[in-house]
Amino acid sequence: MGRISLCLVAILLAGCSPPPDSPRVVLDARLQALYERACVHCHAAKGSGAPQQGDTAEWARRAGQGEAALLASVRQGKGAMPPMAWCAECSHEDFQQLIAYLRAPKE
Ligand code: HEC
Repeated sequence: MGRISLCLVAILLAGCSPPPDSPRVVLDARLQALYERACVHCHAAKGSGAPQQGDTAEWARRAGQGEAALLASVRQGKGAMPPMAWCAECSHEDFQQLIAYLRAPKE
């Protein structure tokens, strides 16, 4: 496990040339709208203190605590992120997809 994640980090840090099968997450129009109304204001705003979309090394570090913990942080709030992260109508599945998008490499 430790070895595999180290490998992953190495690949992610290599940055510009992700392997061809690297996970690409495409949001549908509804999720894209939710993303742009909520998450983008902090997660695509350098200096906001939030881990930035596409910052795969930072997300790999945070993901170490497990998917469930990431989801719980969004629902309950964490640090400067308010509970439900500005998306009161987001469902469990919506959050899961939005989190996957945040964690995916930048296009
Ligand atoms: C008002 C600003 C703000 C908004 C809006 C926001 N976030 Fe965050 N988010 C943060 C900050 C700041 C952190 C870092 C919190 C910390 O670690 O102290 C964070 C952390 C996270 C984390 C990592 C939690 C952890 O346990 O490490 C996830 C996942 C996340 N945000 C998802 C989302 C999603 C999905 C949305 C949109 C629905 C969203 N955020 C909207 C500010 C925001």
